Amino acid sequence: MRPICLSALCFLVLAQAAETQIGDQKIDRTVQLRTHSIFAPYIDQDLQNRWWDFGADAYINTNKHIRLTRADSSQMGWLWSRLPLTATNYVVEVEFKISGDNSLYGDGMALWLTQERTEPGPVFGNRNQFHGLGIFLDTYANARHTFSLPRVIGYVGDGEHEYNYNNDGDGQEIGACSANFRRTNVATKLKVTYVKGKFLDVKIQYKAWDDWSDCFRVENITLPSLPYLGFSAMTGDVFDAHDIIAVTTYSALTSGPDAHKLSSSYNNSSSGSWSGFFFKLFLFGGVCAGGYYGWKEYQRRQGYGRMPKFGGGGFGSGLYQDSKRF
Ligand SMILES: *[C@@H]1O[C@H](CO)[C@@H](O)[C@H](O)[C@H]1NC(C)=O
Repeated sequence: MRPICLSALCFLVLAQAAETQIGDQKIDRTVQLRTHSIFAPYIDQDLQNRWWDFGADAYINTNKHIRLTRADSSQMGWLWSRLPLTATNYVVEVEFKISGDNSLYGDGMALWLTQERTEPGPVFGNRNQFHGLGIFLDTYANARHTFSLPRVIGYVGDGEHEYNYNNDGDGQEIGACSANFRRTNVATKLKVTYVKGKFLDVKIQYKAWDDWSDCFRVENITLPSLPYLGFSAMTGDVFDAHDIIAVTTYSALTSGPDAHKLSSSYNNSSSGSWSGFFFKLFLFGGVCAGGYYGWKEYQRRQGYGRMPKFGGGGFGSGLYQDSKRF
């Protein structure tokens, strides 16, 4: 009876990963990408992360966050994936925290999906004239506007035109929303869902746990391919602490009007007979068992990973900084 229990477990895991319908597209399945995800303790025993680089003023507190800037003036920091994102469709979910005690605060932070990486500059600590998507969590108004800040702003760069940060991108955005995501009582998260040629959807959680507010959605959009995933933040005269708590990226498999290719290839692989059915059941059980033991092993290693094996980290927490500036 063991395989059945394992299958049930597997079913729960799959069901949990399934997303709901977005427009006429349904995201059937998501597969987490280790290469573009990062969470505590963020670094391995070599004080590195295999898949990510961080730099400038950014530092890591292994049981809390990656702090892109601390609450001080003229700071800037970044975190970038080492590999480009090869998935056609993807979901990026980031838990972040922007906090500070002052009544004047800024400037904010950015999520990047661009063909450039680790190039500091004036746009939330990153270069201007980039190829790809920037989603800005802008907390400081550099000009007067009809909308209020803090604000989430989406902008797609073509590598030539500049994002006008002096005007907070007013009029350049592909979409935006005002949301008070600073100093909240709940974990603040941003979720970016992209289906190539179909849509880009941005949601934010800041009011209550698991309460996602729609920020903006753009139809029929195609972003530059093979982007690096990055985060950056900057402070000036005014400041906040800008933290990344966790990043989880999924490759997304869709079904919808244009997803026939995927389903027909699945159909061709089966004869539709009972033996085919049992063969698939057998395969499924095998995959589940493998996945289950892989997961246990992974948990076991995670357990080891949390042990304070790094020297010099007093009180069980380690602060690590890589101060290289490019
Ligand atoms: C997106 O493309 C579809 C199909 O080509 C079209 O029917 C629809 O009007 C487009 N939507 C927008 C907002 O451009």
